Amino acid sequence: MNVWEELREKVVTCNKCALAEGRTNAVFGEGDVNTQVVFIGEGPGQEEDRQGRPFVGAAGKLLDKMIEEIGLKRSDVFIGNIVKCRPPGNRDPKPEEIDACKDYLFAQIAFINPKVICTLGRHSLHTLVHPDISISKEHGRAVNKMGKVFLPMYHPAAALYRRELLDKLRYDFEQLKRLLERGV
Ligand code: URA
Ligand code: SF4
Repeated sequence: MNVWEELREKVVTCNKCALAEGRTNAVFGEGDVNTQVVFIGEGPGQEEDRQGRPFVGAAGKLLDKMIEEIGLKRSDVFIGNIVKCRPPGNRDPKPEEIDACKDYLFAQIAFINPKVICTLGRHSLHTLVHPDISISKEHGRAVNKMGKVFLPMYHPAAALYRRELLDKLRYDFEQLKRLLERGV
């Protein structure tokens, strides 16, 4: 087994936090491990938990659409989450759950070594970039950290609930397109 498959095995059998109890399937993430672009959401929802795949519900359909609008395909990128198991009733992940899970994500990012990491929503932004960053002020603006470019984006689920955020999410994707066109 290679490093990536070993990591997958660790995640799908993990019991490091309380979220293990309520899950049907841990969601490791999926896509191209040779990609330059990674999207990181918050955690699996109901459909993701059921299928063991990231962003396959309503928010996922919008994410796919946004990816396609900038000329990419879902299979060209990698899609993952901060926590790999579903928080019950889609509540926010707790700080101790994020802490327990984040080394898996760091290992995934180290393995893929992407040029751009797009954070989807507040939890992803706060975990991966900085807890004090305001998404409403900083979305769509690239931040350099530890030799990587992070691009804070709105969460597609937020854009489904609040129509006015859809244009902002589209703007965030346009910024990603620009970064990729200039080689990041
Ligand atoms: N929302 C997320 O943050 N992640 C998913 O995988 C699905 C919905
Ligand atoms: Fe393990 Fe992460 Fe699932 Fe918690 S959320 S049980 S740390 S894989």
